[in-house]
Amino acid sequence: LNIAIMAGGDSSEANISLQSATQIAGWLDPERFNAFKIIVKGNSWSLEQPGENPLPIDKNDFTVTINGKRIAFDCALIAIHGTPGENGLLQAYFQMLKIPYTTGGVMNSAVTFNKYFSKELVVATGVSLAKDVIIKRGENYVPEEIVEKLGLPVFVKPNESGSSYGVTKVKTIDDLAPAIDKAFTEDEFVIVEEFISGRELTCGVFKGAKNEIVLPVTEIIPETEFFDYDAKYLNKSQEITPAQIPDQLKERIQNFSSKIYDRLQCKGIVRVDYIVRDENIYFLEINTVPGMSAASIVPQQVRATGMNMRDFFTMVVEDAIE
Ligand code: DAL
Ligand code: MG
Repeated sequence: LNIAIMAGGDSSEANISLQSATQIAGWLDPERFNAFKIIVKGNSWSLEQPGENPLPIDKNDFTVTINGKRIAFDCALIAIHGTPGENGLLQAYFQMLKIPYTTGGVMNSAVTFNKYFSKELVVATGVSLAKDVIIKRGENYVPEEIVEKLGLPVFVKPNESGSSYGVTKVKTIDDLAPAIDKAFTEDEFVIVEEFISGRELTCGVFKGAKNEIVLPVTEIIPETEFFDYDAKYLNKSQEITPAQIPDQLKERIQNFSSKIYDRLQCKGIVRVDYIVRDENIYFLEINTVPGMSAASIVPQQVRATGMNMRDFFTMVVEDAIE
């Protein structure tokens, strides 16, 4: 089976995606799968060939010609965080070509990549949500009104982005406008959220036709002001898997993760992020193409179950193809 690992993409997270894709390529079982890494950069898509020039992908039918031989793919393993891999664009492309892919569908991807719309839907599960204000680029807003509604500090985030790009924790009203401007560099909508001070926990879920796996919960203890880019990728955080939390809290988080997965009609492997304050579990966001870099959390959670990444990805790919 020829597997196209889709990597790169057009957001700030492209560099993380390349790391995730390299890890995944190493995990795919060479006895079952021929792994091809395809780098997406704007309109130019190419097959990476170690030590040789990259080859262009024919986007009309998603094939590549190697030494005069045309290669088609049995499955697209989407490892692009952000656009176009996590927001429904590639999903629509593969759907039209009838090529199986490893993530949720178009609607699932579009909604889950939008923090605001995700919250509108997951509220039905009973999970707690931070209060928020959404601002469109060019729209007027009154900083005093935002602070009156949400208090201080607040988190200012691009509504559609990942890996904390463009995210600022704002402690004074004067810092609000610059933070909003910064978030607008990533997206045309910005979400400002009430700061919930608590423990940061995250939980991966995979549900396939044959297996349903809710992974162990991880606690993140950042050494930085919050779980920002440096904490995520430059090892400036401690990640504890399984989290040292009471069983009952662990079960509640796993239950919410499973319900949220269903509510948003997910497929494949996702990771749901939370803050827990007192007895309340606040949903932060869901990642439908969770990081698979050496520093990422889902691989830690998979290994904590005793499963290895090779078997895990065999399951992910086989489920997509079935
Ligand atoms: N957005 C990053 C890659 C993650 O969720 O792991
Ligand atoms: Mg994210």
